[in-house]
Amino acid sequence: MMKWFLVAVRSDFIVRHITTLTIMAVSAEHIRTLHKYEKTILSVLERQMSRYAWIPLEQLITSTGFAESEVNYRLARLIEWGMVRFNPVPYDGYALVFGGYDTLALASLTRKGTISALGTQIGEGKESVVYEALGLGPVAIKFHRIGGRSFNSARVNREYMTEGGHCPWLIASKLSAEREYKALVALHPKVSVPLPIAQNRHTVVMALIHGANLNRCILEAPAFVLDEILENVRIAYKEGMIHSDLSEYNILMEDGKCVLIDWPQWIETSHPNAETTLNRDIDNILTYFKRKYKLTYDREDAIQCVTG
Ligand SMILES: Nc1ncnc2c1ncn2[C@@H]1O[C@H](COP(=O)(O)OP(=O)(O)OP(=O)(O)O)[C@@H](O)[C@H]1O
Ligand SMILES: [Mg+2]
Repeated sequence: MMKWFLVAVRSDFIVRHITTLTIMAVSAEHIRTLHKYEKTILSVLERQMSRYAWIPLEQLITSTGFAESEVNYRLARLIEWGMVRFNPVPYDGYALVFGGYDTLALASLTRKGTISALGTQIGEGKESVVYEALGLGPVAIKFHRIGGRSFNSARVNREYMTEGGHCPWLIASKLSAEREYKALVALHPKVSVPLPIAQNRHTVVMALIHGANLNRCILEAPAFVLDEILENVRIAYKEGMIHSDLSEYNILMEDGKCVLIDWPQWIETSHPNAETTLNRDIDNILTYFKRKYKLTYDREDAIQCVTG
């Protein structure tokens, strides 16, 4: 049975299962029981991260207006819960980590009523974790994780990374989520992508797709699906967008229909690398169908069909 982790106390929501099991870096129980002072401290840390690599204790005391003992007590809890990190050199400083950023995003999404409970993890990629969640219905929430464990990856070289200042992971993860959300808003429903629901900080809330990744499917009508994928690539292209990371891993199959996911790295069709990028997307798909289903589709025809 599906387990739900309550993130907010809502009278209209029946709790099926509350647990303190660790989810992501933080526990839903800690998010739910977060004291308002702890929330304030997280918010101050978030704001100050653009100014400092490590926010001095004095700055936290001034910005919150809390007594030093209160700030220390709250910080100790936040550190224990994996939301904040402490650095003693050259001065006592504190920084937000992904757990704290996740908490702020979930708190905002919960306050707005976008989500009320978190389900289990349904996906994990190089630069994200995806959870099932409960909104008005079942939704998917994607936490972008650019930097941190994947800081050496290719996406670090994207243009927006240079604006990271003291905190490139926070800025880059937020920009990545914003970019993905922008693509979903621009393309849905013309292109088969998940319905975008909300975006907050480094998270995107979207419709939950009930289906497996293409690489895990055995298709009954592969030629039909290949045509459908190329048709979606064509419409996206017509809308001025190229996916840039299209592969069998970023396509979900729901009731025999393909859904193109994972859009943060899309580029405009006017981009200098547009042609190479589009060709690579198309090659990935054609190679996959050839290898798995022995389907041959002329490369030039596919490119012509998308751009023509
Ligand atoms: N809307 C959704 N509904 C259902 N499952 C989803 C949804 N979005 C993502 N997933 C699942 O989560 C996995 C990871 O998501 P996604 O591909 O968007 O990010 P990613 O793989 O982390 O990105 P990267 O390409 O950097 O590795 C997907 O392969 C898919 O299994
Ligand atoms: Mg992916």
